[in-house]
Amino acid sequence: MVVASARANIALVKYWGKRARKLNVPSAGSLSLTLAALETRTSVRLVEEAEQDSFRLDGQQSSEKARHRVSAFLELVRRMVGRREHAHVESINAFPTGAGLASSASAFAALAKAASEAYGLDLALKELSILARQGSGSAARSIFGGWVRMYAGFREDGLDAYAVPLEGLEMELSAVIAVVQGGEKQVGSTEGMEQTRTTSPYHDRWLQLVNMDLEACVSALQTKDFERLAEIIEGNCLAMHADAMAARPGVIYFSGATLWAIHQIRALRASGTPVCFTVDAGPHVVALVHPEHAASVASVLGAHPEMDRVIITTSGDGVRTESGDEAV
Ligand code: PMV
Repeated sequence: MVVASARANIALVKYWGKRARKLNVPSAGSLSLTLAALETRTSVRLVEEAEQDSFRLDGQQSSEKARHRVSAFLELVRRMVGRREHAHVESINAFPTGAGLASSASAFAALAKAASEAYGLDLALKELSILARQGSGSAARSIFGGWVRMYAGFREDGLDAYAVPLEGLEMELSAVIAVVQGGEKQVGSTEGMEQTRTTSPYHDRWLQLVNMDLEACVSALQTKDFERLAEIIEGNCLAMHADAMAARPGVIYFSGATLWAIHQIRALRASGTPVCFTVDAGPHVVALVHPEHAASVASVLGAHPEMDRVIITTSGDGVRTESGDEAV
């Protein structure tokens, strides 16, 4: 049995749109920060006699849908190595489940590591990133810790679509995650992306913008220019949501509490706190902030009656195997 852990990430320059659906290849690059608190631990044990794969999530039998998604991923690994045994997979999230935070990024990064080793594959980090991408696009980034850049590549087989760590950046930011109640009810990212790609009049423009924002974001991180970084992160997030909202029918992830939190963060920045916001495919708001201001931002964001909780986290490490012979 192999146990691996991985941590989710928050995209500063977003991935929104696929150029090849089957291999889950993004249309453009993206840039993220891996987050320590959003950890998934996963164990994979091969079971020779089993007739199908089994999957337990947070100590309970998973849904059939989740089991199928895990099984399809294990099938990719089995095909790579030419083996047939089924496996038993157990995953535990270190963050509240059912809140819409359960990220596919930490899940598929941990599963890529644990499953590849359980089936006897010794993959380099680049290959692990390519494998994890096929489970979920953002999982390709969670193979690495800290600041990470994803490349969309050009090849049809997706072998040049993987993430790399951005080394040598000294900028330290914490994330304050304002978790909005009822956040689990949302349009899934694949469905939202496809609807946007096929019907939004802004989608081509969005993809052009991502390429510009990527370069600008790397340079703002290198020069530790927080004001510039805030402008890029917020602009990129709002452009992604504008693209999604302009789909027909529009894909709307914001709730009232999302907009409230956005305004609070902007007011804090206007009064001198180095903080900015981003929002993924759900209502939760992630504030990126200099670590010394994380607690005060959290207390402001936690004040809204629809806020379920606020999680403060530093940046986290990439995927790793964990010792121990117990299932997680
Ligand atoms: O990895 P997926 O398929 O769940 O897509 C992630 C999409 C966003 O979270 C909205 C953006 C991103 O880059 O993580």
